Amino acid sequence: MFHFVNNNKQELQLNEQNMPKHIAIIMDGNGRWAAKRALPKKAGHRAGAKTLENISQSAIDLGIEHLTVYAFSTENWKRSDEEVKGIMDLLREYLKNYIDRAKKDNVRVHIIGDVTRLDEDIQQQIVELEQLTKHKTGMSLHIALNYGGRDELLRAIRKVSEDVANGKYQPEEIGEEQLEQYLDTKEIPDPELLIRTSGEERISNFLLWQIAYTELSFTEKLWPDFTEQDLKQAIYQYQNRERRFGGR
Ligand code: FPP
Repeated sequence: MFHFVNNNKQELQLNEQNMPKHIAIIMDGNGRWAAKRALPKKAGHRAGAKTLENISQSAIDLGIEHLTVYAFSTENWKRSDEEVKGIMDLLREYLKNYIDRAKKDNVRVHIIGDVTRLDEDIQQQIVELEQLTKHKTGMSLHIALNYGGRDELLRAIRKVSEDVANGKYQPEEIGEEQLEQYLDTKEIPDPELLIRTSGEERISNFLLWQIAYTELSFTEKLWPDFTEQDLKQAIYQYQNRERRFGGR
C-alpha cells in the first residue's frame, strides 16, 4: 500500500512513520471534466462523488485518521438553481448510501458548515448518519456543506461573545484553544496537508483558521480524474518538505 509508481514512472515509497493524520481536499474541476466530454454538469458532480468514495477508501487503507472534503461552499448557492438542485440530489443519494452501509463501515461521518440552510430532509439524513457512525473507530470523514471559513469564524465569534456577555469568560481568557472549541472542527487536529485539484491555486474560504501551517499541494488533475496514486504523490511531496512552523 505504501509503495507506488509516480507519473514519471519512478518507484517510490511512502514513509509509514510520517503519514499525515489529517488531509483536507478541495475537490475542484467537476464542471470542466463534464464540459470536456460534452456532458451536463451533473454528470461531472456524479463522477466527483464516485471519486470521493474511492479516495475515502484509499485514505482508510493508508491509515489516515481524518479526511475533510469541501463538497458545498457558502458561495456555491450563487450557481444556477439547476446546478444547486443537482448537487443536493446527489448529496441525498450519497448520504442514503452511507446510511445503508453504515453498519459494516468503520467510518465516522461528521458534517462541518452551517447545515441550517439545507433542506429539512437532508438535515435529517445528516443527524441520522452522524448518530449511526459517532462511535466508529476508523477514519473520520468530515464533509463540508454550506461551509465557509469566514462564516465558521463569525459563528464562533458570536458564540464566544455570548459567553463573554453572560460571564463565562473574561475577554483576556480567550486564547487559541478556547476559540477552537467554538469552531466546527473542535477536537479535530489541524490538517497537515491540503490538496486542491484542477490547477487552481486558491484556498476559496476553506478552513481558514485550521490551515495556518498546513502544506499545500496543487495538482492539474480534475477531481473526477484524481486517483489513489495522485493521493500518494501528494503525501510523498508532503513527506519530503521540511516543516518549520515559523522556527528554524
Ligand atoms: C467543484 O467543481 C465541485 C463542487 C462545487 C462540488 C463538489 C461536489 C462533489 C465532489 C460531488 C458531490 C459531493 C457529495 C458529497 C455528494 P466545479 O463544478 O467548480 O468544477 P469547475 O471549476 O470545473 O466548474
